[in-house]
Amino acid sequence: MIRKISSYIGEFKRDSIITPIFVALEAIMETIIPLLMAWIIDNGVGKGNIKYVCIVGTIMLMVSFVSLTCGALSGKYAAKASTGFARNLRRAMYYNIQNFSFSNIDKYSTAGLITRLTTDITNVQNAFQMIIRMLVRAPFMLIFAMAMSFYINAKLALVFLGAIIFLGIILYIIMTRVHPYFMEVFKKYDDLNASVQENLTAIRTVKAYVREEHEKSKFYKASETLYKYFIRAEKLIIINAPAMQFAVYTCILLLSWLGAKMIVSKSMTTGELMSLFTYTVNILMSLMIISMVFVMVIMAKSSAERIVEVLDEKSDLTDPENPICEVKDGSISFNKVGFSYNKNMDNLVLKNVNLKINSGETIGIIGGTGSGKSTLVQLIPRLYDTTCGTIEVGGVDVRKYDIETLRDEVSMVLQKNVLFSGTIKQNLRWGSKNASDEEIVAVCREAQADEFIEKFPDKYDTFIEEGGSNVSGGQKQRLCIARALLKKPKILILDDSTSAVDTKTDALIRKAFGEEIPDTTKIIIAQRISSVQDADRIIVLNDGKIDGFGTHEELLKTNEIYHEVYESQVKGDDDDNGSK
Ligand SMILES: Nc1ncnc2c1ncn2[C@@H]1O[C@H](COP(=O)(O)OP(=O)(O)OP(=O)(O)O)[C@@H](O)[C@H]1O
Ligand SMILES: [Mg+2]
Repeated sequence: MIRKISSYIGEFKRDSIITPIFVALEAIMETIIPLLMAWIIDNGVGKGNIKYVCIVGTIMLMVSFVSLTCGALSGKYAAKASTGFARNLRRAMYYNIQNFSFSNIDKYSTAGLITRLTTDITNVQNAFQMIIRMLVRAPFMLIFAMAMSFYINAKLALVFLGAIIFLGIILYIIMTRVHPYFMEVFKKYDDLNASVQENLTAIRTVKAYVREEHEKSKFYKASETLYKYFIRAEKLIIINAPAMQFAVYTCILLLSWLGAKMIVSKSMTTGELMSLFTYTVNILMSLMIISMVFVMVIMAKSSAERIVEVLDEKSDLTDPENPICEVKDGSISFNKVGFSYNKNMDNLVLKNVNLKINSGETIGIIGGTGSGKSTLVQLIPRLYDTTCGTIEVGGVDVRKYDIETLRDEVSMVLQKNVLFSGTIKQNLRWGSKNASDEEIVAVCREAQADEFIEKFPDKYDTFIEEGGSNVSGGQKQRLCIARALLKKPKILILDDSTSAVDTKTDALIRKAFGEEIPDTTKIIIAQRISSVQDADRIIVLNDGKIDGFGTHEELLKTNEIYHEVYESQVKGDDDDNGSK
């Protein structure tokens, strides 16, 4: 994992190496200063030698200046390295997410991905900066001070060794215990973000149902659990502080006691004991810093794991080795197709589907909610891959096509389609980047979007808000159809795309399809029989199986489900008309 994540340091390797060099230089300079100070006091001030004081004083000034510069430079390079590292990670993650297939997307929640892209990366960035600065400085100081104390009095220095081992054990225990808590904390972060995101994207629904209080309590719960888990993790980490204090005071007590004995037995001078005390502080301060960095590293480890998980996620839709870059025609065939969202053969959403659709045909699909209509059509542009069986478009297995070619030729208006913030023109050009204004107007006419666009003051330059919130449901659907038409596809799939459009306009759209794009295979999923009854053939889907496939008349005679739906809708219409 560490190798994987550190490979993203990339071009910031140089900065990541320069930083510790400057840090080390800064630390050396800092340890020299007390030595110079001692010289000034002992040899200069003590002996009244002003010249000596001036010379060594100037050296000291220079040393502190170098130390300051090194400190500043190390800070600069550390910041550059860590922010650059974070940028690389974020980019790599974002690019990989763009390659995700629909089933990859199903695996992660949107909120979870956002937490990983923000909080988790920030954790890793901070830890990285700490590592290249503090984790160099502290061990450096530690080793230097240890060496000096062993040099002064090896026996007493053993006390430090004992303290280091003691603290090492405590740190190890904390690290292993606290890691699972942090994993939990980040999951709770996902929940919190999910709660916020869900609420904000659906704020209108929340208001319409006066669910503010419920949403507030949901958020309260999510933040409360996050708080509790954090407290648990922090409670463990906090053990670090008393352990540290314990080590410091034990060291000082032992040193004073043993040192005093040694002074009495003349095996050590008072000066030596005094300098050992200074080193105690140095050593234990370094240990404290190391343990702090370790805590950050533990947190970052959980974050790094979550980042690597996304980086390692391979899109399960890959282009074949020698992709075919041309779709011959709009014919479609399903051969013994079975599909399950969780790749589990017991849980098939589609079962043994066999279909042959000719190029240029208009096919209607009817079926109850959850019967698998959307699932069926999503397999055609390879938004998901089949669990078993094959699908051919233009006589070739969909898995043999270059995905971009296939999706350009199979244009689909998703059931949950969205518009993006931008003008109408910009939105429509998603279908085809270089479409001319005339082409845009033409597809809008076909989709019956032209008449309402012309009524907007800014016409085709009208700004669409995020998610298309400033156009009506039916207008949005018509814009989505126009966007799909602009691709000039060989196969056009409309997944319940006229549900919010009135029946008259719906009929006009279908009429325009018949006149303007007769050669395109059109698949229309609808709830209303009237939307599909003039199709060449109609598929009746029931519980993932094809229950009937034929013309309106044939199905009325032979298919029970179709007959029932027809009866209920026609009767419903008659009742409506009768009551007027
Ligand atoms: N992304 C998904 N992950 C897991 N299960 C899913 C997913 N999408 C749909 N399903 C399940 O697959 C089944 C078929 O769903 P599908 O969306 O194909 O139905 P549908 O016929 O289009 O329904 P509707 O008329 O309501 O749009 C349902 O039981 C649904 O719960
Ligand atoms: Mg559907």
